[in-house]
Amino acid sequence: MTASTTSGRSTTAPSTTPVLDVSGVTMQFGGLRALNDVSFGLTEGEIIGLIGPNGAGKTTLFNCLTGLYTPTSGSVALRGEALPGDPAKVTELGVARTFQNIRLFPSMTAQENVLVGRHARMKQSPLSSLLHGPGFRRSEKAAADRAAELLDVVGLTRFADELARNLPYGDQRRLEIARALATDPSVLLLDEPTAGMNAQETEATRRLILDIRGLGISVVVIEHDTKFIFTLCDRVLVLVQGELLVEGTPDEVRGDPRVVEAYLGAPPDEVDAQIHAGDHAVDHAVDHAHERTGGSSTRPAEGAR
Ligand SMILES: Nc1ncnc2c1ncn2[C@@H]1O[C@H](COP(=O)(O)OP(=O)(O)OP(=O)(O)O)[C@@H](O)[C@H]1O
Ligand SMILES: [Mg+2]
Repeated sequence: MTASTTSGRSTTAPSTTPVLDVSGVTMQFGGLRALNDVSFGLTEGEIIGLIGPNGAGKTTLFNCLTGLYTPTSGSVALRGEALPGDPAKVTELGVARTFQNIRLFPSMTAQENVLVGRHARMKQSPLSSLLHGPGFRRSEKAAADRAAELLDVVGLTRFADELARNLPYGDQRRLEIARALATDPSVLLLDEPTAGMNAQETEATRRLILDIRGLGISVVVIEHDTKFIFTLCDRVLVLVQGELLVEGTPDEVRGDPRVVEAYLGAPPDEVDAQIHAGDHAVDHAVDHAHERTGGSSTRPAEGAR
């Protein structure tokens, strides 16, 4: 486990080994360019925060990183190898994700939902599975043990046998994280993991993500809650209208007038005044912008969200 500062952010410097390399990704939907020439690298053990106004292209970027969308141009490589345009194969290679709109199996128990993730990893011959031979039983037992472990990691042991649909909303989000971890990822992509959570649940999730990094997993996290992002992440990317507008440490990003302007749409002079009026101008701007749109967790589910 890594050491923590008083804010809980890890003090262990991420290495510079690139795990995920995103290069010039553009995604065009008819006349709409949802992503324009987006490039960044995720290094080993790094936590990157991805912020930006509603409709900026954040979820679209995740969809491009996980094979759900094939970028119009550009490439995504995991440890130097181009990722295939097939979500199941991307999962097998070690990139896992959660969804902005929770995608659990509501009529399965919490443990069964985690086992679904685990099965993406298990290598059993069809014959062994069919005959329920010793190899099959061994691997089923190992999968059940691992599922129990992961439920413990996310603090849901008490809900192991509860149907997913009966879990409180915040716990459903944590269950999605457990299911993603069950695929043994080296990269975890989290799309608004604290949407709909109260302050305590959000803090618990922040600590959970730090623990996940402690397991050696690199993380990219989308979130509208900038306080959460700025106290969690090593680096923050700001996506605005499909373009990476600003990239830097939390301190660099929160003090960048372009970021506040992108959220508020205010002229630079006004933005400057806001920056000097308080260190938390971006937090307020983002909260305000998000409130205006009603927050994404209240929207109906859509295809690839
Ligand atoms: N499959 C699609 N077909 C057409 N347009 C799409 C598709 N997926 C996303 N878009 C559009 O691409 C843009 C970016 O959407 P995206 O969902 O990536 O935004 P976002 O940054 O995740 O926003 P939010 O914060 O609201 O979740 C939007 O204009 C959206 O309508
Ligand atoms: Mg989104």
